[in-house]
Amino acid sequence: MTALHLKPDHDGLMQAGDLLRAGKCVAFPTETVYGLGADARNDTAVAQIYAAKGRPSFNPLIVHVSDLAAAEMLCVFNDAARRLAATFWPGALTLVLPMRADAGISKLVSAGLQTLAVRVPDHPVGQGVLQAFGGPVAAPSANPSGKISPTTAAHVHAGLGHKIAAVVDGGACNVGVESTIVGCVDRPTLLRAGGIPTEAINACLGTSLQSHDDTTINAPGQLRSHYAPSGHVRLNATTVQNNEILLGFGPVDATLNLSPDGNLLEAAANLFAYLHQLDVLGATHIAVSPIPNHGLGAAINDRLNRAAAPRH
Ligand code: TXA
Ligand code: MG
Repeated sequence: MTALHLKPDHDGLMQAGDLLRAGKCVAFPTETVYGLGADARNDTAVAQIYAAKGRPSFNPLIVHVSDLAAAEMLCVFNDAARRLAATFWPGALTLVLPMRADAGISKLVSAGLQTLAVRVPDHPVGQGVLQAFGGPVAAPSANPSGKISPTTAAHVHAGLGHKIAAVVDGGACNVGVESTIVGCVDRPTLLRAGGIPTEAINACLGTSLQSHDDTTINAPGQLRSHYAPSGHVRLNATTVQNNEILLGFGPVDATLNLSPDGNLLEAAANLFAYLHQLDVLGATHIAVSPIPNHGLGAAINDRLNRAAAPRH
């Protein structure tokens, strides 16, 4: 099987909706990264996501819906959750909430947990796919498990092209790092840094998010080695050794520079595409410039730390 390449026009979106209804896996763009979607209520369809990615079955999936009303059919929102949804949806925020008993979501999606991760993406093509399908779509990032997340349709074809039914091409994702995950089961807790900076979430809540080290809830998918390019990764590099290619940030002389101006939004948008490009260049040793840890820098550093971690 080779994945169909669907245009983001009426016919392409209708075809994506039909394939999802037929229980197939379809990759589609969101503002963060491309997701690998399947009908969240269909066990066989969801099982194909895990199979295509080689994803461990204990790692639950995010359910994508078109709006807050659809999310409220699946989960119980407390005041903090409602406030965050009102402020940041559609957008790069995922909420982990108690799941309703009658949600109808496949147990494979939540990996048996009583909670569900939900998000409303802010992308016209992603929204178009959700509307063409008309139901909840489970979608992890559309990359083989442990590898670099995809920010273009070409990345998806290269990683999963022989394992899925179709890719809807919506161009490059403009945020470039995955959604921020906040647990709102009791006190709001940061489960994964991402496309909405923690500072903005704290400002919305008027209090600081708990860190997940302080609680028992966790995002089970936060594996230490992830987002890994083929080459060895060395962080906070201020010098470059002979065998290394520099992934730069700020005013440095680098083969690839995430943002010569030191702009964190630009760096986030380039991050995964440049890691993919380093693989294409055959980089065996990658040095990465220091990146400030505020705003989107926290999400960038989280991904880079995992990319640099010892591999399994
Ligand atoms: O931006 C994004 O979030 C992208 C796009 C496609 O929406 N999706 C994404 O999915 O990053 P994935 O599967 O790569 O990451 C989902 C994360 C995992 O770390 C998983 O463990 C966590 O969400 N998660 C899912 N359900 C959870 C739950 N009930 N409790 C805690 N963590 C959960
Ligand atoms: Mg992922």
